[in-house]
Amino acid sequence: MIRLKVNGLARQFDGDPDMPLLWYLRDTLGLTGTKFGCGAGLCGSCTVHLGGAAVRSCITPMSAAAGKNVTTIEGLDQAGAHPLQKAWKTAHVPQCGYCQPGQIMQAAALLKSHPHPNDADIDQAMQGNLCRCGTYQRIRQAIKIAAGGKS
Ligand code: FES
Ligand code: FES
Repeated sequence: MIRLKVNGLARQFDGDPDMPLLWYLRDTLGLTGTKFGCGAGLCGSCTVHLGGAAVRSCITPMSAAAGKNVTTIEGLDQAGAHPLQKAWKTAHVPQCGYCQPGQIMQAAALLKSHPHPNDADIDQAMQGNLCRCGTYQRIRQAIKIAAGGKS
């Protein structure tokens, strides 16, 4: 039995401990904000927080979540009003939107460790999150807005 918390709620899982966390979030809990992209840890669309750190849930087994807190895009802010979510709207970041939950979760982890990131910090933190629509400049702008700096 694996016990964990997802978006603040206590959960139990007694299935295959090797099952990807992404499957559990989407298929068992119905938290479909976290997206499947590559399934191989290469695109970042499945990014969630595990113990406060950004991880790729497609390659994170359930066993790694035992005793930990998982936060998905649905739990980042109950009202959807996290500074990054507000900045994403201000900067009109999304195109198709598919990569954006992962982008925001990755950026949220960045702001925890670097509340006022410079361009190099942003590039390093976000380089593994791909966007087929090419919204990278607006993502950078929104992160700076959320950090309280100039866009
Ligand atoms: S779906 Fe997980 S990194 Fe691409
Ligand atoms: S907004 Fe379409 S993939 Fe990023």
